[in-house]
Amino acid sequence: MNTVPEITLNNGVRIPQLGFGTYQVASEATKDATLTALEIGYRHIDTAQMYGNEKQVGQAVRESGIARGDVFVTSKLNNGLHAYDDAMRAFDRTLRDMGLDYLDLFLIHWPMSADGTFVEAWKALSDIYRSGRVKAIGVSNFQPHHLRRLFEESAIVPAVNQIEVHPYLAQEHVRAYGARHGIATQAWSPIARGKILDDPEIARIAERLGRSTAQVALRWHVQRGDIIFPKSATRTRLEENFDLFSFELTAEDIEMIATLDRDERTGPHPDHFGHVP
Ligand SMILES: NC(=O)c1ccc[n+]([C@@H]2O[C@H](COP(=O)([O-])OP(=O)(O)OC[C@H]3O[C@@H](n4cnc5c(N)ncnc54)[C@H](OP(=O)(O)O)[C@@H]3O)[C@@H](O)[C@H]2O)c1
Repeated sequence: MNTVPEITLNNGVRIPQLGFGTYQVASEATKDATLTALEIGYRHIDTAQMYGNEKQVGQAVRESGIARGDVFVTSKLNNGLHAYDDAMRAFDRTLRDMGLDYLDLFLIHWPMSADGTFVEAWKALSDIYRSGRVKAIGVSNFQPHHLRRLFEESAIVPAVNQIEVHPYLAQEHVRAYGARHGIATQAWSPIARGKILDDPEIARIAERLGRSTAQVALRWHVQRGDIIFPKSATRTRLEENFDLFSFELTAEDIEMIATLDRDERTGPHPDHFGHVP
């Protein structure tokens, strides 16, 4: 059976553990790709203001024929819009562009640490949350020191922290810190944008199980309890990535994959990205 488990966030909202990521899906291809994902059974879509395809994601969700309450939709506040009024306006624009009454999850995309404006952005997200136009709010690319700032300044604990995680970047420290504070980890680039697909150790496990290397890596995330939304613009890969719930990795497989961690990022380190000297 291919039923996607749900994770309960710290405010009681439930999120499908597997979704469809839309980064680098061209805007003109996004509507069809999202409709294909929904047809396959995905009920969780991850987009962002930065991706330039919110409109098309919204169109697909509205035209899919699936009840709005049955699809979990996430977007993210763009960098440079952390000032309170900018963040409020940007959220309104997202809802308008998507043609939706509410979002399920809205995140601060990057902390942009140097100017520390993420605290102001968090105040805006908190007010949007209180207004009922988003079911849950969270952050992305936050390190424990960024989260500590939020804890000092706000009573609302982020529901999720969306960070880069894959077998080459296990992020044990940030995940454990989040877990201690009730923050779920969403793992972006779960197959390291394809880098782990030729890994000989993962390939060996895949061969034993009669699965693909992508499926083994994605299943590793699932068994660690993280939320994932691999991106593919190809139907057969979308199907493959959705088929993760009819097999299991052994404890030895998980331990083996843990040894592959080498702190290797596909994206920038959050402390350096957007750094203003
Ligand atoms: N918060 C953030 O800062 C942040 C940053 C990056 C990403 N994200 C989110 O996380 C999502 C996933 O991350 P990502 O898109 O960077 O990387 P990813 O999902 O790890 O990898 C996507 C790449 O792998 C290929 N692929 C997917 N499934 C495959 C399969 N079964 N076999 C072989 N190749 C496969 C795709 O190619 P094809 O499309 O050609 O199939 C694409 O090139 C994004 O779409 C976005 O929603 C968030």
